[in-house]
Amino acid sequence: MISDKIAQLLNEQITKEQYAAQYYLSMSAWFFAQDLDGIANYFRVQSKEELMHADKMFDFLNDVGAEIVIGEIAKPPHEFMSHIEVFEKALEHEKTVTRSIFNIVKNANDEGDFATVSFLQWFINEQVEEEANASQLVTKIKMVHTNPSALYLFDQELSQRVFTADPAN
Ligand SMILES: [Fe+2]
Ligand SMILES: [Fe+2]
Repeated sequence: MISDKIAQLLNEQITKEQYAAQYYLSMSAWFFAQDLDGIANYFRVQSKEELMHADKMFDFLNDVGAEIVIGEIAKPPHEFMSHIEVFEKALEHEKTVTRSIFNIVKNANDEGDFATVSFLQWFINEQVEEEANASQLVTKIKMVHTNPSALYLFDQELSQRVFTADPAN
């Protein structure tokens, strides 16, 4: 049992997750163009994760019998001023997504829609991790960005990230 309002918020959140995927893919492309393929890989994996988030919401809406309406995904920025700017934009974006998810949780809670509240628990925890990672990367890129050897190592570190589908999925 899900209200039209909550279903709409979740439908909109699917589009937001898909937008995040596009945004990260754009960041990935920017780093590939800089020949920083490790950092580019990191953002590409991040993009895939966002698509997985959208899929999770799609499945949930289907499970609760809500109508799924796929929205329009806006074109993300594709030009960035600096390495630091990209990481700062990524952190900023995660904070926006966190606020959006909190808003759905708040509305679902007010309605006594505990199925949605329970479903979104995974996303609340995920956002804590996403913000922590993004914040740490902002700190690290600031440390290394003017030192080519350090930047090289940072790029190597981020090249290690591989996409793993969520085991609970
Ligand atoms: Fe997400
Ligand atoms: Fe995210």
